[in-house]
Amino acid sequence: MSLDHPKTPNDLRAFWMPFTANRQFKQNPRMFVAAKDMHYTTAEGRQVLDGTAGLWCCNAGHCRPKITEAIQKQAAELDYAPAFQMGHPIAFELANRLIDIAPKGMEHVFYTNSGSESVETALKMAIAWHRARGEGQRTRLIGRERGYHGVNFGGISVGGIVTNRKNFGTLLAGVDHLPHTHLPDQNRWTKGQPEHGAHLADDLERIVALHGAETIAAVIVEPMAGSTGVLLPPKGYLEKLRAITKKHGILLIFDEVITGFGRLGSAFASQHFNVLPDMITTAKGLTNGVIPMGAVLTTAEVHDAFMQGPENLIELFHGYTYSGNPIASAAGIATLETYKEEGLFERADALAPYWEDALHSLKGTRHVIDIRNMGLIGAVELEPIAGAPTKRAFNAFLKAYEKGILIRTTGDIIAMSPPLIIEKHHIDTLIGTLREVLEALD
Ligand SMILES: Cc1ncc(COP(=O)(O)O)c(C=O)c1O
Repeated sequence: MSLDHPKTPNDLRAFWMPFTANRQFKQNPRMFVAAKDMHYTTAEGRQVLDGTAGLWCCNAGHCRPKITEAIQKQAAELDYAPAFQMGHPIAFELANRLIDIAPKGMEHVFYTNSGSESVETALKMAIAWHRARGEGQRTRLIGRERGYHGVNFGGISVGGIVTNRKNFGTLLAGVDHLPHTHLPDQNRWTKGQPEHGAHLADDLERIVALHGAETIAAVIVEPMAGSTGVLLPPKGYLEKLRAITKKHGILLIFDEVITGFGRLGSAFASQHFNVLPDMITTAKGLTNGVIPMGAVLTTAEVHDAFMQGPENLIELFHGYTYSGNPIASAAGIATLETYKEEGLFERADALAPYWEDALHSLKGTRHVIDIRNMGLIGAVELEPIAGAPTKRAFNAFLKAYEKGILIRTTGDIIAMSPPLIIEKHHIDTLIGTLREVLEALD
């Protein structure tokens, strides 16, 4: 950390913090001032084991030398190049490398700066794609209950989280939702993909019958819903969704902002589940969370439909000042190299059984009513305090932080997604500390 910056700022008023209980936080702030590999350092000098890879994004761990050096070098060499009608080699190089690890069939990369922007980009592309092919009436977008697709208007419209939607007006018109896939009565304590619930994809046929397939542009789902508590796709569900969308000429978008870059033990969840969508949205692990960057991956079929008309005309009126920013691109290349050199996706896959056993050893711990897992991601669901939903899990988060582990909560669910460099002894510490926290919790 630069000595120019104070370790503890003496005035916390100005910064309006995102997705944070600002007033509560500012009474008792939790500040990180440094990070290395699996650990954060707090302002008080304590070490905190990172059980969440930051916000599901630092998949290679913290302050990794290759990524740091790439950013430093790039900042000194070419800091910025205009993103429109100009190029620079690193953005092209990163796109090629992304396609190398992407599911076969993904051939093009459109850069954004976040998961939310990737989602907006993919939704706009879907509508414009149908229009480019003479089906401009296909404008409806279908999301899913309990889906999280970022916080912009398209994303919250197709998303399925009431608190993210209800205060923001009427949202996008022409959106409908599939039912979520969480069936605790049938699937509680399942390790990996649950058995029951593939039939929930059939609801798309009902939506098609209601609106007419010829009005629907795209279906967007997270292959595994992360932010609403690690909700895994039931066996056969994604395959069904793919078959039904294909049958009706509807594009399928996988939001892989969390599942991309090794979280489930493959580069992308699409490969893990062996289901190929038409577009994949990414961000987070693309640059190891170090520099904001996202990307939408598309098939040639999606891309090529736009490549018509006079060649001097812009094909897609969309893009961001920072699309493919040189420093972010350099961070992306260094990140992909780190993943590859250290075999981190394979590592996640190899560690998954140990992670699964450790997580499920919490069955029987006080307050725990369900456990879910896949790859290096897991959720521990707690019985809510009557009349005070979310409080028990948040209290667990605070106690865990005091005891030196970083977990994340959503509702009364504790979600964990450690960096893929995690060692078995870290897993033992994480789960062991969580057990102590839960046993001591009201
Ligand atoms: C599936 C999914 N989509 C989109 C987003 C939004 O990403 P960002 O916060 O970078 O805008 C997230 C963030 O957690 C996510 O999990």
